Amino acid sequence: MLPTSDLLAHTLAQTDFHPRLPQQRRLYEAAKAAIHRQQLGAGSKLPSSRDLARDLGVSRNTVIAAFEQLAAEGYVHSSLGSGTYVSDLQAHNASMRGVGSAPHKPAATAARNMPLSRRGTALTSFAAGPRFEIQPFAPGDADFSSFPFKLWQRLQNRVWREARADLLDYGQSGGYLPLRQAITEYLRISRSVKVQVEQVMITSGTQQSLDLCAQLLADVGDTAWVEDPCYWGARRVFEARELALHPITVDSDGMALEEADLATTPRLIYVTPSHQYPTGAVMSLTRRRELLDVAVRKDAWILEDDYDSEFRYTGRPLAALQGLDNDDRVLYMGTFSKILYPGIKIVYLVVPPALINGFKSALYDLQRPGQLMVQAALADFIALGHFTTHIRKIRQTYGARRELLRRTLVNQLGAQLGAQLGQPVTISSEESGLHLVVELPDRVDDVALEKLAAESGIQVKALSTYYLAPPVRRGLLVGYAYCTPEKIAYYGRLLAAVIQSGVR
Ligand SMILES: Cc1ncc(COP(=O)(O)O)c(C=O)c1O
Repeated sequence: MLPTSDLLAHTLAQTDFHPRLPQQRRLYEAAKAAIHRQQLGAGSKLPSSRDLARDLGVSRNTVIAAFEQLAAEGYVHSSLGSGTYVSDLQAHNASMRGVGSAPHKPAATAARNMPLSRRGTALTSFAAGPRFEIQPFAPGDADFSSFPFKLWQRLQNRVWREARADLLDYGQSGGYLPLRQAITEYLRISRSVKVQVEQVMITSGTQQSLDLCAQLLADVGDTAWVEDPCYWGARRVFEARELALHPITVDSDGMALEEADLATTPRLIYVTPSHQYPTGAVMSLTRRRELLDVAVRKDAWILEDDYDSEFRYTGRPLAALQGLDNDDRVLYMGTFSKILYPGIKIVYLVVPPALINGFKSALYDLQRPGQLMVQAALADFIALGHFTTHIRKIRQTYGARRELLRRTLVNQLGAQLGAQLGQPVTISSEESGLHLVVELPDRVDDVALEKLAAESGIQVKALSTYYLAPPVRRGLLVGYAYCTPEKIAYYGRLLAAVIQSGVR
């Protein structure tokens, strides 16, 4: 194998490109990474498309397409008859800035010339990457096909017909008032949240709400307690704000504080008490009370992310932790992403009275919110009762899908795998939410199983990847809400076969 082919083959093997990426894109990304890391320096000659295709075992068209993309973006250039060469990016960047061609710089100087900040570079080094077409069993995705399009269109049309110029402006007061009123009512009745309308703010995503909390309530270097395993979206926001994350183990009663944890002093405590993400544990009443006490003692804020409590299939939705708070330590957040659709980008944040003015002013200064027309349609959707009807309908659909998936997996994995593993296969996190967890023994490599499943077009996630500390549990997160019953039956059997072959 030619040395450059070897380098690219190594980069391809080392880098966790998304399994759904086409070959040509993977090759393009690998070459780009090697050029940025200066493993392929300016002026290096790339192998011919024929040789590279042979060495990597891909088609020549794949290599040509990757080269064309690299050339179009200025990473390489070809000279007729003599081959393809890596471009001098330093000279290219300098000429783009209009300062003429710069001499070649040593690596350390080049790194300083990267356009991103130190923080930006750290953040983007493990970005999740683009979102691809949702594959069966992707955890967390709802079924948008059941969205009431016609009804929504009518409500939206009505708002536009009213031609209210004030709704075209930025949202200056924490969101469209009738929407905040509708949410207040809903939270009081359905989630036992103690709330006045002034406390409710509309933001455009749970991550934006968390980011506001991180900016307004903590300083760089302050400690944030997070559940371990933890929702990646929260973790990323806190990391971006340079907080010190302190992971706290989750057991079947939720976040389990130990002496060593209590020796630290958090400013923020991020929890998902109604349905821990991703294990599904429900925080016990004793733990809820304990956490509220700790927050008061430590002068910390609890950030309660109540992202999917509407999907509880047995009994009533659980009351929110915020409802037990007598000391105004809890900031409560919920989302319409799961019930309606994620692109709506409308979520609510309930802040204690003392924080109303600060949050309102920062929301306006830092985020300049808008979308009042959509907020108005949503306010009508809730006030006219369509929201609760829609929740009832999808809860029924998802409940049936959950049961079908559970039955399919139990039947297929059954006693044989249990005997093989030396313990029964446990399925947890199934009482609520949009995914369940197939728990696996410690010795099973769940990341390898995730990859194996991806090869069959199944998008499950390994439980161990959600941990900050070394993982204490392994398993697979299997989403069912997005899958039709036919797909659940088919891919459920396929997934069971993947698990069985992977744990042998
Ligand atoms: C734990 C958790 N919180 C919140 C959200 C929703 O985030 P957003 O409201 O920004 O869509 C998700 C989505 O997957 C989640 O898993």
